[in-house]
Amino acid sequence: MNNENSSLYEYANGQLQALTAAVGRADDHGAGALLADLLGTDSDRRTTCAPPWPSDVSDDHTPVEFSVALDHGRQPTIRVLAEALAAQPGLGANMDAARRLLATWARRYRLSLDRYHQVADLFLSAPPVSQFALWFSLVFKAAQQPAIKVYFDPNCRGREHAADRVAESLNRLNLGHAYPTLRRYAMRPDAAEGDLDRYTFFALDLHDGPRSRVKVYVSHHDATAADAARAAAAAPGVDADEVAEFCRLAGGDATVFGGRPLVSSYTFVEGDSDRPSGYSLYVPIRSYVTDDVEARDRVLALADRYGHDTGLIDRAIDAVARRDLADGVGLLAHVSLRLGDGRPGLTVYLSSEAYRVEPPRRRDELARHLVLQH
Ligand code: TRP
Repeated sequence: MNNENSSLYEYANGQLQALTAAVGRADDHGAGALLADLLGTDSDRRTTCAPPWPSDVSDDHTPVEFSVALDHGRQPTIRVLAEALAAQPGLGANMDAARRLLATWARRYRLSLDRYHQVADLFLSAPPVSQFALWFSLVFKAAQQPAIKVYFDPNCRGREHAADRVAESLNRLNLGHAYPTLRRYAMRPDAAEGDLDRYTFFALDLHDGPRSRVKVYVSHHDATAADAARAAAAAPGVDADEVAEFCRLAGGDATVFGGRPLVSSYTFVEGDSDRPSGYSLYVPIRSYVTDDVEARDRVLALADRYGHDTGLIDRAIDAVARRDLADGVGLLAHVSLRLGDGRPGLTVYLSSEAYRVEPPRRRDELARHLVLQH
């Protein structure tokens, strides 16, 4: 399955370089070096060993996940979501490692940390009681310097404090009016607060252009396509019915998404006040298929529907896959639809699977995810 002799860095960088080539780029713009910084001392670890930390970035705890974002009229973007791990991983040690890495990158790449500093104490004043303190996303656009994004965990002080943390962060970033909008649209009114709809990430772009984003992510447990449409309606100009249709096409037979949750993200940029200017819906497709052949078929059908290059998606899958698609489930982790400006963008999230491949599931096992269990 895995190449026995490869380190995590060799393994993941091999995938990243192949992905870069798959989207037609000759130069990786320093992607390999950034990945090495992220993996730190973990770089040398053999992929045949157990993961040193149960990173929630991906199901098999590889601290890296790839994605390819397709937009109309633009070159595709490659992204890497990753968690920096300490040499001796732990909740506090990983937080410190992430902060050190951010300080190094801020100097080297002249990142703008203004907004980061406005909210960081809300998330990083003590080691988290949740899974992580700070994640990074590396964003590689054609012919541009890499961009960096950070993710905070609103649950860092416990799930019961997540909403306060989001509200206060928005306040400090002059987006205080956005919070009631999130409450109204993203939270189902008939459920107890934080029960079915939960704040999962609070993310910032680390540059200070007018397009620099603040993003709030909400996970919708046991949600339907209609619930997703309701959540999407927070963003003016977003076709909520299209969001429902996207869920149906990505979810196959799912009437309720009872496996991994659907996720909404709300994007705020300069000039937004109470309403977000962008919305994305993420379907964790791996919970709703038997294997990656089925996941690929659905993703290609979606790409076709939105007029994106299906061949490119196939090349991207091939670049990351180290096995037959029929032999596992989870290589295609999420598929997301991005709405707001122009025709919908589509993003495919690809797991590294450096440590483990989830075996295909039987159709009767899958059926349990497709209806309400309780
Ligand atoms: N692995 C986690 C999850 O599936 C976090 C995560 C990674 C995620 N990539 C994502 C969540 C994309 C939403 C969308 O929840």
